Amino acid sequence: MNDNLDCERYWDETSVEYQQVTRISLDDFHYGPLLPGESKVKALPPITKGMKCLEIGSGAGQNSIYLASLGAECLATDISGEQLKHGEELAKGLGLKLSTRRAGLDEINKEEFGTFDFIHTTWAMPFAQDQQKVIQNCAAMLNPGGHLLITTGHPIFAGEWIVLDEFEEGLFLSNYFEPPGEVRFTKDEENFVRTEQFPISTYTNWILDSGLQLTKMLELEPIQLPILSEQEIVEQTPYDSPVWRDMYKQIKNVPFVVTYIAKK
Ligand SMILES: C[S@@+](CC[C@H](N)C(=O)[O-])C[C@H]1O[C@@H](n2cnc3c(N)ncnc32)[C@H](O)[C@@H]1O
Repeated sequence: MNDNLDCERYWDETSVEYQQVTRISLDDFHYGPLLPGESKVKALPPITKGMKCLEIGSGAGQNSIYLASLGAECLATDISGEQLKHGEELAKGLGLKLSTRRAGLDEINKEEFGTFDFIHTTWAMPFAQDQQKVIQNCAAMLNPGGHLLITTGHPIFAGEWIVLDEFEEGLFLSNYFEPPGEVRFTKDEENFVRTEQFPISTYTNWILDSGLQLTKMLELEPIQLPILSEQEIVEQTPYDSPVWRDMYKQIKNVPFVVTYIAKK
């Protein structure tokens, strides 16, 4: 598996491009590429003034900034200082308070970070060394009645998209129970990270075994990209990039992410 240094190197090098090519809204909470945001989905727990929120693997923390705009007290954590720097600038530009701290997913624990009312993470868990332990630590950090939201890679999307001929294309997944990981290289191919995905039942049981009550699961379908104008696309999804538009046929048919929401 990755160590923190692999993740830090890869993401520090990738950060500028990621933030440049991806449109991530600050006016909505995103769940994944070309998916509807919270303004449509309405799955978050009530966000109240002064509520303590923690985002792990936050990137630039656009979701945290959105929650801060609703009055929540937000801490965004990530292994990449470059990603966090971008978030600090975004929050400053809006005059919002966003606390940041550089930390690996596997390093976050109650003793050092304290407790929270809402802990959330979007597509960062696949980089962790021990995802079950991260879930256990998050569960311990929740105040009673608090919520954990994990959006992570859908195990079925770990398959390969295959074009058979001009009429038939689809997913080839050799083993659902051990979904193949992905290796991502930086442009100069000097640094790389691995991702790891798990079957839905494994993840569900990790959440339940951590003592939390699973309240919702989401397998969201993307917006109707081909029939929408540019303005409608901006209005209907908070997360978009040319790469994801090119992969629309795939994410339209196979969920790229799954979201688990659990309560303490
Ligand atoms: C695909 S990006 C998602 C960022 C953000 N959550 C979003 O939705 O835009 C994955 C993020 O996970 C962070 N990350 C990768 N490995 C990590 C680790 N071991 N500990 C903490 N963060 C990590 C990266 O730096 C990057 O910001």
